[in-house]
Parts: sequence; C-alpha cells; structure tokens
Amino acid sequence: CGIIGCAGRESETLDVLVHGLSKLEYRGYDSAGVALAGEGLDVCKTAGEIDDLRAALEERSPSGSVGIGHTRWSTHGPPTDENAHPHLDCNREVAVVHNGIIENYQELRDELSTAGHEFRSDTDTEVVPHLIEDELADGADPEDAVRQAIARLDGSYAVSVVMSGVDRIFAARNDSPLVLGIDSDAYYLASDVPAFRDHTDRVVYLDDGEFAVLDADGYRVTTLDGEPVEKTEDTVDWDPEETGKSGYDHFMLKEIHEQPRALRQCFRGRVDELSGTVDLADLGDLSPRGVQLVACGTSYHAAVYAAQLFQQAGIPAQAFLASEYATSPPPIGDALVIGVTQSGETADTLSALREARKRGARTLAVTNTVGSTVARECDHAMYIRAGPEIGVAATKTFSSQIAALNLLALAITSVGDAREVISGLRDLPGAVQEILDTSTAQEIAETYRDAESYFFIGRGLHYPVALEGALKMKEITYKHAEGFAAGELKHGPLALVTSDTPVFAVVTGDDEMATKTVGNVKEVEARDAPVVAVTDGASDVERYADHVLEVPDTHRRVAAVVANVQLQLVAYHTADMLGRSIDKPRNLAKSVTVE
Ligand code: G6P
Repeated sequence: CGIIGCAGRESETLDVLVHGLSKLEYRGYDSAGVALAGEGLDVCKTAGEIDDLRAALEERSPSGSVGIGHTRWSTHGPPTDENAHPHLDCNREVAVVHNGIIENYQELRDELSTAGHEFRSDTDTEVVPHLIEDELADGADPEDAVRQAIARLDGSYAVSVVMSGVDRIFAARNDSPLVLGIDSDAYYLASDVPAFRDHTDRVVYLDDGEFAVLDADGYRVTTLDGEPVEKTEDTVDWDPEETGKSGYDHFMLKEIHEQPRALRQCFRGRVDELSGTVDLADLGDLSPRGVQLVACGTSYHAAVYAAQLFQQAGIPAQAFLASEYATSPPPIGDALVIGVTQSGETADTLSALREARKRGARTLAVTNTVGSTVARECDHAMYIRAGPEIGVAATKTFSSQIAALNLLALAITSVGDAREVISGLRDLPGAVQEILDTSTAQEIAETYRDAESYFFIGRGLHYPVALEGALKMKEITYKHAEGFAAGELKHGPLALVTSDTPVFAVVTGDDEMATKTVGNVKEVEARDAPVVAVTDGASDVERYADHVLEVPDTHRRVAAVVANVQLQLVAYHTADMLGRSIDKPRNLAKSVTVE
C-alpha cells in the first residue's frame, strides 16, 4: 500500500496524485483513491487498479490546492469501493488515508458508534476521520484536532489528512514509512520516494512520533505534542529513469538484466583485490562472537545463505524468519543481529530487530534503501546499492544482498581463502552477464509451462537457491512449487514426485556434496520425474537429467547466485507464457508494513 500527498501544484494536484500512485503500484494494492481539498472536499475511490480510478475520475474532475492519494492492500475487509481509502467522517469534511494497522480500532469504533457515528467500511482506518470530527466539534482547530485524534491510536500508522476549507495536509508516522519531498514551489509526502521523484530529489524522512504540516508555502515538522523538530534534508542519488521499464516488457525482466551492474555497484570501493581485503571501515568495528540473521521472503533466503558463510568462517550463525524470531528468541550473548531487508520497512523484520535490541544486541541493517526505518534504527547500516527495485518479486536485490553479505563475512571473519573468494566475486557480474546472454530458460519454461507442481533441490549454499527458485515460481506463476534441501527429499516429499513434477536440481562442482546431490537426482529420475540440472558440468548429473541449464565454472559462492539467475528466468518466462501479472502478482505487496 502507498500514500502520496501534494501541496502547491494548484491546477495539477490531481495529475500529481494519480501519477504518484502509479509510481507506488509496485508496492502491491487492490484499490485506490484520492481526496482533494480547497474550498470543499472532493473524494474519488474505487476497487481495482489505478486505471479503474482514472476511469472513475473521468466522470468528475476533482480539484483542490492540496490533495492526498492512496493505494490499499487489504488487511481489514475485502477490496471494495467502500473499503478503499480515503475514508471520511459523517459530514464528509475530513478525508484520511492510512498505512499500517490500528490495534485499538474496535474499541474506538464501538465508542464512536455509541456516540452516533455511522461507519461505511470494514476498515480500521475509518475511526480516524470520525475521531477528528469529534475533536473539531469540540472546538479544536484543524491541526490540534488531527494531533489529538492521532494520539488516541495504538498500533502502526502512516496517516495523512485533508479537510474541507483547509489548504494544508497533516501527516503523522509511527512504524510505517513517510517521506517528504521538497521542491522550490511545491511540497510532497509519500510512503516512498518514487512517488514524487519525477518532481524533486530533495527529501526529508519523518521519524516515528513525528507530525508534519504541508502547504503551498512550506512544511513544518513537530512531535505529536507540538515540540518543533529540526530535520535535515537529504538528496536521493538515483535518477527518475531508473524507475521506468527501459523498453523491457516487465520491471522484473529489466531488473534481472540489471544484475551485473547492480553487483558492480555493490563491490565498488569496497574490495581490494591486490591485498585480498575488503574495506567496510564505515561500519566500524563489528567483530562479533556470533551472528543472528532475521529476514522475510527472499531476503530470508539470502540470510540462510549468509549464515553458512559465517559458520564456515567459524562464527556461530543462524538465520531466523523474522516473524518467528520473537516467539522464542535465542540467547543473544555477544551476537550481532543482522536484519536483511530490501525495502528496510518490513514490519516483521523491524519488530525482530527491536526485540533483539531490547535484549541488548548490536544490530546491523543490510538494506537497499537509504533513509529507511531499518537503516535509521540499527546501530550500523550496509547498503547493497542495487538501485530501485519495482517488480514485487525480488530479483536483483537478492543477488546484491548475497554479494554484500559475502563482503561482510570476509570483513568480519578471517577466512583463509579471502583472496580466492574475492577473485570469485570479481567474476560474478561477468558470469551473470553470460547467463543473461546465453540462457535457454525460455525453452525449459515452454516445455514445462503446463506442469502443476515444480520442485527445486540443492545442498549447502545451493539450498537457499532451491528455496528462492521455488518462491519465485509460486509468486509469479501461481503454480505450486517447493524448494528442498536435496537430502531431505527422500524423507517425505519424494511421495509427491511423479512424471508430472519437474525437478530442478542445482549441482555445481564435483565434491562430496555434489556427489550426494547427484544421488538424490537419481532417486527422482527413477520415479520418472523430468530433471532439469542447473550445473557447471563438473559432476555427472547431466547423465540423469532431461535438460541442462548451464552455469559457468566459478567459485561455489558465486555459482549459487548464477544458478539462481537461471531459475529467475525460468519463473519469469513461465509466468509470461501463462499471461500472469508478473510485476504485481495477486495478493502480494512489495513492502509489507504490517505484522
Ligand atoms: C514481501 C515481498 C517479498 C519480499 C519480502 C521481504 O513479502 O512480497 O518479495 O521478499 O516482503 O521484503 P524486504 O523488503 O524485507 O526484503
């Protein structure tokens, strides 16, 4: 879900809002709406896509000197016109958009209903305009009315409010991102920079507990109680074009192709090949005795990969699903807790890191997003520098997370073969480019597009690749797909393997691990399952495979990333042939800011 606001663009307010919403589409949504305020208040909202909103707007052209817009990803109540934001008070004079979850909404709704307020939606958000309405009725001025209403909310929120007859936008944040955009003659507000990046590169990130007021002449930030807060302005360092498709059919395909460049950016200035060292001095002295990684989704797979790197270097390490971390938190000791998160805003990951901090841990954010909540809350931040990722299914950020975590592992451990690893990493962008230039993934996708179920197996560093290969496949094709540790297949999942279930086996090198995985491949081949080997040809896995996706002969750490690129392409082409909504898969959001 996403928020956009604009003050100072007069006749263009509506265009700015709708354009901003289209730039936030990548975050995932199922309904959208806008509210414009000036002398009156005009609201238009609808279930469906931004184009549905555009169609609804054609019948009426709301205008106003300030406005707010929203894309909603359903939490309370299904995606309907009524549940779309903005939400209004009884008199239709206050409009509110909100991201997050208001935990005490039922209690507030009961109280307001008893007092005579009528609700039109199932959402938690709708209590906010009604609370503001009550404050206004009690004589509060508009700004105080919003402050007092917000002070009554428990939970997470990024809230933005406009009112009839008031040419200001009010906004507040707690546990859900909000950033201001500053131009010479206009002011913006959004959940993420791409929403207004076409207009300005000057930004001010709001922190939890802060309250902002924007109008055509400027902006002001205070605490919720009204204490002035001194904010610093930042400049974003990427171009608006980076959020376009550059001729590709989908953002996902563009981002898959951006991987070599993203990887080079990640390494730039951090690696000294001659001395075989990695320089991450800007992170300070980390030297942990243990590492715990917390993450969700694709980032969790990068964390599973990284935990192995630390373990191999003799540092006890474990990866946790962030949403599970707090249920039975492990002893912290002197561990460094690393949050791996592309967006830097995932609520589950933030909450796990807060739990770790509460227990005395030092925390490090590995993220793609400068100025994100995770970067500001953690003791240290390492940026993966992948550039903006718009496709909901993470691709280049996964590769860049792995690259960054490799550097981190080298910097904080004293592994014997650092020079060898660094030279392997140097080959990584070129190896990925080779896959992009030569991959036969499209043919494999064509061959197996009608399968109902896909399995992915791998061992060691290839295990998280198997998990990620399956996740990509299910996210964008809507087909059943599972990733397994190769050795675990025989302990249950083998019961599902038939001649209709293609099995993708990631096998590189010819060491003992590879030999064991080849043994697992034989087990599925004996059950007539079609096998696609993702391999560098070092083992004899090809003898048992129906198809091969080639991986260049590289360091094992690198081979895992390159093999994953082949699987990204298989998932992409399968989804494309099936006509799926590749960049915005159903039910999924890019950045999930609720727990
Ligand atoms: C959502 C997305 C996933 C992503 C996960 C973690 O669930 O749909 O693609 O991997 O969040 O996101 P993060 O921004 O924390 O890496």
